[in-house]
Amino acid sequence: MKNLMKTTWLLSFFCCPFFLLSQGIQITNGPYIQRIGEDEATIIWTTDNDAVSWLELAPAGNDSFYATERPRYYNTSHGNRVIGKLHRITVKGLSPGTEYRYRIFSKEVAGYAGHQILFGSIASSNVYSSKPPAFTTLDRNKKAFSFRVVNDIHGKNDNLRAMLSDVKKENTDLVIFNGDMISTLNEEKEIFAGFMDTAVELFAKEIPLFYARGNHETRGKANTGLYDYFPGSNGNFYYAFRHGPAFFLVLDSGEDKPDSDIEYSELAQFDPYRDQQREWIETVIATPEFQSTPFRIVIMHIPPTGSTWHGTRDIARKFLPLLNKANIDLMLCGHTHNYQFIDKGEDQHILFPVLINDDETYLDIKVDSRIDVRQKDMSGKTLHTHIINGKK
Ligand SMILES: [Fe+2]
Repeated sequence: MKNLMKTTWLLSFFCCPFFLLSQGIQITNGPYIQRIGEDEATIIWTTDNDAVSWLELAPAGNDSFYATERPRYYNTSHGNRVIGKLHRITVKGLSPGTEYRYRIFSKEVAGYAGHQILFGSIASSNVYSSKPPAFTTLDRNKKAFSFRVVNDIHGKNDNLRAMLSDVKKENTDLVIFNGDMISTLNEEKEIFAGFMDTAVELFAKEIPLFYARGNHETRGKANTGLYDYFPGSNGNFYYAFRHGPAFFLVLDSGEDKPDSDIEYSELAQFDPYRDQQREWIETVIATPEFQSTPFRIVIMHIPPTGSTWHGTRDIARKFLPLLNKANIDLMLCGHTHNYQFIDKGEDQHILFPVLINDDETYLDIKVDSRIDVRQKDMSGKTLHTHIINGKK
């Protein structure tokens, strides 16, 4: 009896600190697909407590996820596995146009005892009673594909839901958020409350999402954290990707007023940022891949015309001379909350068509031997159709 009491005391002595520290862990947001290419993908999610996380990947198939041990992928930094509440796992070495299933795990880091880590519980996605989510890598050889564009949602989840509720893997290869998805970013959790939780519920677990930053996402005290949630393929908010017969140039138009405007509290440096971006555009449009792709589509939040504000003028001054000689087939913008289609030749300063989408309509676009654009309202009714034929 004495020994039993001693054992119980010892157990409680060693176990209590652990149980006091361990809160249990939950996956709070996500997962969603980012930074997808032909050979890589990044899966992002968050947890309510610190954790070390990993991803298990399986080829497409109807076999159980438990059929065999699946390879694990971690996020590491300078040789260590990363601990935190935001989890971003990049998987490389994938094959183009190939479907993969995945499962996520987060092992709670409950505390530290000297150099030793005290692990708590593990949270994971359910592959037992639910089908594991799956994504398909991009593929330049795909003959036809469809994508969806929304912009200027400003945190209106109901609008987002109305415009994306019918998005399925079968009818949509990728979705583009073309800026101002939220009005101000003061806390990172607003990314999820404002639009991403809805996006995850509707499609983003399985359908790749590409983000073009709007001027509103440059605002608020958490604005510098946005990139962690939407990492572009080259370390920037401006980046390029290729899928099927289209090359996408995603640009970051920055803020709309002069950098010195009182609204920016002496923090804005968008003029030099757009200079830096101009140099990048010049490099990309000179590549054989850009030039040889059947269609070139530019995604940019602020249109390069229609306003005398500084942002518009700076974009027009810096980007248009390059884009005008780059054989662009279509530019998609938002920002004005008003639909407008400026056909090639209508604006003497722009040598390609520009479609400005409204904040309460979406674009359903199919690319094959031509670009077929349908602008639709929240009930799904087509308001305008634009067909852009290939040049070759
Ligand atoms: Fe805007």
